[in-house]
Amino acid sequence: MDKWSKHDLLDLQTLSAEEIEHVLETAKSFKEVSSREVKKVPALRGKTIVSLFFEPSTRTRGSFELAAKRLSADTINMSGSGSSLSKGETIVDMAKNIEAMNVDLIIVRHSVAGVPHKLAENLNASVVNAGDGCRSHPTQALLDMFTIKDKLGEIKGKKVVIVGDILHSRVARSNIVGLTKLGAEVTVCGPSTLIPIGIEQMGVKVSYDIDAVIPDQDVIMLLRLQKERQEEHYLSSIREYAKTFGFNANRLKMAKKDVLVMHPGPTNRGVELSGEVADGARSVILDQVTNGVAVRMAVLYLTLGTKDVSKEE
Ligand code: CP
Repeated sequence: MDKWSKHDLLDLQTLSAEEIEHVLETAKSFKEVSSREVKKVPALRGKTIVSLFFEPSTRTRGSFELAAKRLSADTINMSGSGSSLSKGETIVDMAKNIEAMNVDLIIVRHSVAGVPHKLAENLNASVVNAGDGCRSHPTQALLDMFTIKDKLGEIKGKKVVIVGDILHSRVARSNIVGLTKLGAEVTVCGPSTLIPIGIEQMGVKVSYDIDAVIPDQDVIMLLRLQKERQEEHYLSSIREYAKTFGFNANRLKMAKKDVLVMHPGPTNRGVELSGEVADGARSVILDQVTNGVAVRMAVLYLTLGTKDVSKEE
């Protein structure tokens, strides 16, 4: 079996454990490129990649663009505002028109779940999901898994707790799928209003008490508290959340001495984690960002290296 056969990367549900491992291995070889004086290889010379971001982004958008440029692809970035969507064009028509300029791959982030899948159904170009609604953020989970493997040697058997708003988190969903496929023991922890009913069916444990789970964990992955959730009455107050679930120096003392503290960003300092912990020795938050470029180089390289025969005449 070829190690990679996917024309698009839409989620991690459709990848086998072997395919996830193959992305992580490929990313390992690309990581070195970013530390060179000349941070460029010709792997995707002549390819054209377009980013379509309909939601704000710092890390994902920046690292996809750097990844494409470091592989020598031609890139452009487009956003919803300023495009012809405001004149009534549908997103599929917009993407088809972009594709008509002989574009090879489209990266898309959208607040509506399923938009990348819709584009993939309608385009011959490869589609890579950069985050869709609450559904999926596959490259974030891949870079998180890369970071865990890089720091701890392996993922199988490691205990990972994901803390926060699991209900609305595409990062949590993709990490649960990826980490359980690679054999991690995943626990989700947060207020009962923000943990989906039945999530155990995804192969995770559930806890509502962060202090009870901290001592066992190899990785503590904190999620951004989406502050608008307080207005939607999922939370009594942000202050109460910070007291009950915020990860701070006192809680760090309860953890294993070599625990990894992770966060996909953007962080709310003083809410889901203290500034002291975010900047402390156990935090790998900026390593995650660094690794994101290598992982996205691997994703672009692999998806552009395949042909989708199902879409051929
Ligand atoms: N982690 C993440 O998706 O960050 P951005 O929203 O800045 O891309």
